[in-house]
Amino acid sequence: MGDIGANLETARLLEGYERPLIRNAWYCAAWSHEVTQEMFPRRILNMPIVLYRTEAGKAVALLDICPHKLAPMSQGKKVGDNLQCGYHGLEFDCSGACVRNPQGDGRIPQEAKLRSFPLLERYGVLWIWTGDPARADESKIIDLRHFEDPAWRTIKGGHHVDCNYMLLVENLLDLGHALFLHKTSGGISDDLVLSETSIEQEGDMLRDLRLYRDARPPATIFGKYAPKGVRLDYNADMLWVAPSMLMSHNGCSETGRARDGSGLSLRGTHLLTPETQHTMHYFYGTSRNYALDDPEIDEAYRRFQRDALKAEDSRVSEAIDGLLGQTMALGVRMVTLSTDVSGRRVNRMLDRMAEAER
Ligand code: FES
Ligand SMILES: [Fe+2]
Repeated sequence: MGDIGANLETARLLEGYERPLIRNAWYCAAWSHEVTQEMFPRRILNMPIVLYRTEAGKAVALLDICPHKLAPMSQGKKVGDNLQCGYHGLEFDCSGACVRNPQGDGRIPQEAKLRSFPLLERYGVLWIWTGDPARADESKIIDLRHFEDPAWRTIKGGHHVDCNYMLLVENLLDLGHALFLHKTSGGISDDLVLSETSIEQEGDMLRDLRLYRDARPPATIFGKYAPKGVRLDYNADMLWVAPSMLMSHNGCSETGRARDGSGLSLRGTHLLTPETQHTMHYFYGTSRNYALDDPEIDEAYRRFQRDALKAEDSRVSEAIDGLLGQTMALGVRMVTLSTDVSGRRVNRMLDRMAEAER
């Protein structure tokens, strides 16, 4: 009986990686600087999408499939602000309406349209709404004001990962992994002991708060700027906003003053955009409120992104994704730990969102 129960639990945990992707949501389609007047094709939620800017600089997202014979629009060319299909020349404006048919009688069939997606430019990010346009609600975008605040400096990056996006959502919601996976890349001391944890949930958001008292903060995080020779309060918190926008807050401050804004602060932004069920685009930014003009720190965070986010987090997630299909057949029984609570709650919230979209 216990065995069947463990089996069911494993099946249930695995289902989280096969859950239909949430469509009624904002995702980072690209950093603002990635998209120019040239066509920029990118697959998002299993949809081929072409992004570009009009001559006036407005960013546009259209389905990258010509409604005539399905040729990718991105293999055609730009004609002013319009896209011309490279196959037979149908031309579409930036709303997706067909405005020219150079073939035969030149008549434009009523259905000749490209689907256009709500696209919003905010905080240097192009946010795409992949679901019902009538439900696109700007207030659901995570607050990244620090990206534009001169009191902060941000190093941005990104890469493609071959895994279901939930593997990285769960990775980020359990920062305890840093003590092992990022021990070297993060410069984490052996005596870092978790003192307090709490979880706050509100609407489509969840906060996972972790406090280490009397700690030596990780060397890579604050580097030479971390106060020397004193023990500090070090917090490593994560905010999740449905479905896959996350922001970490790592801070160190005098004992008893955690999170009061008095110490050094680091915000890690993580925007996870599913490409397909088992591949994704990972966009990240590391923002600090100290040593704004120190190129050595810029380089330290670039290295951290390369080593920790790309080589370590992404590699382990890709390895896990490669094993998902065999887990049941191999008889592996998955277990959950007390530190998996945030990940489990987020899975339940996403189950409900996916259910509402069926
Ligand atoms: S496939 Fe695009 S015009 Fe024919
Ligand atoms: Fe990590």
